[in-house]
Amino acid sequence: MSDIQKLINNKKNNKFHSSKEINFIVKSYLNNKINSDDMTLWLNAIFDNSMNIDETVSYTSSIIKSGKKITFNNLDGYVIDKHSTGGIGDKVSLILGPILAACGCYVPMVVGRHLGHTGGTLDKLESIRGYNGLIGIDSFKKNVKNIGISIIGQTDEICPADRKIYALRDKTNTIASLPLICGSIMSKKISEGIEGLVLDIKYGNGAFLESKEEGVKLGKLLSLIGSKFDVNVKYLGTNMNQPLGNFAGLSCEIIESINCLKGKGTDDLMEVVFDLGQAACALAKINNAKEKMLNVISSGKAYEVFEKMVYEHGGDISNINCNYTDNIDIKAAESGKLQFINTKKIGEAVNFINELNGNKDNNAGAEFFKKSSDKINKGDVILRLFSNNMDNLRFAEKLAYESFTIN
Ligand code: URA
Repeated sequence: MSDIQKLINNKKNNKFHSSKEINFIVKSYLNNKINSDDMTLWLNAIFDNSMNIDETVSYTSSIIKSGKKITFNNLDGYVIDKHSTGGIGDKVSLILGPILAACGCYVPMVVGRHLGHTGGTLDKLESIRGYNGLIGIDSFKKNVKNIGISIIGQTDEICPADRKIYALRDKTNTIASLPLICGSIMSKKISEGIEGLVLDIKYGNGAFLESKEEGVKLGKLLSLIGSKFDVNVKYLGTNMNQPLGNFAGLSCEIIESINCLKGKGTDDLMEVVFDLGQAACALAKINNAKEKMLNVISSGKAYEVFEKMVYEHGGDISNINCNYTDNIDIKAAESGKLQFINTKKIGEAVNFINELNGNKDNNAGAEFFKKSSDKINKGDVILRLFSNNMDNLRFAEKLAYESFTIN
């Protein structure tokens, strides 16, 4: 029996891994010495039997060690990041990041691509013509220092092991495991060289963790792991029982984020932005947080930061638009009160239409005209799906219809 098979069996029999064993698994998978079939078996064993705190610390540490850990010296503000466990229409990072930078913080942000049914901040940014989210660490650090923020994806330099494991988890339905989520998130965040982190733990029928209790468990675990690596963590549980804001997709979410930075955000979205912003400012010891955040929005400073960051990443938002050829309106078949019952399906529908013949359809997405608890009349448009391919839309239409009920 090979070493990895012994370790898989140990985990299946509820035995604990030593830190050396976890390091061996993570390193060997990254270096192709463990194949994806064995790694899938190991992930499933963790999914079923979990990891304890020591194992989770070792797992996080092994992923950090697979790349470089950034350090920031002599910055005149608090170094902080924000992360979400993933949702639909969740564009909070794109709004809150520039707001915090405009308030005097430094925000080095490493973000992911779409995972399962949820959207990815990097995919959204890459819908901006020219945006390069895969710059090297030196340029990343320079942007953070000069602009206050830089948003990038994982490169070979930052947690490459997570990138590879994350892709396998996505394929093998092993996402919703607390220690795996924790190691994945915290390794990237700790590698950024931050002092503080605010976490948006999504719960509900559009989140990886449906129950609030599971969300709280994850929040506590993330905070504990953060403290082991000298990162102060504050977490908030926020509702993902319906899409956040008015749009879900790629360029449509960038346009919505720009509107929020210009003071035209929807209430549900801005509530999450300000709640997390207040938690971030508390860590950064910034007083009168809400007032300051509102000021940087109304003065145009927050938008200016976003524009500068996009420019430094090679992006051009001067003519940003979301032109599509086809759309299908999902209408109410009866009158009553709307309730989103399976927000995941909307996420699946959106991710499906964002792919077109193996490429991204940046202009595909969904617009929401009604929210849960809204009273609606028969024939009202609840949501619109749009893209550049009618066949894709027809498939997504079915998922969208299954996502809500009218009581
Ligand atoms: N976000 C991450 O970065 N990793 C996970 O495993 C889940 C959400």
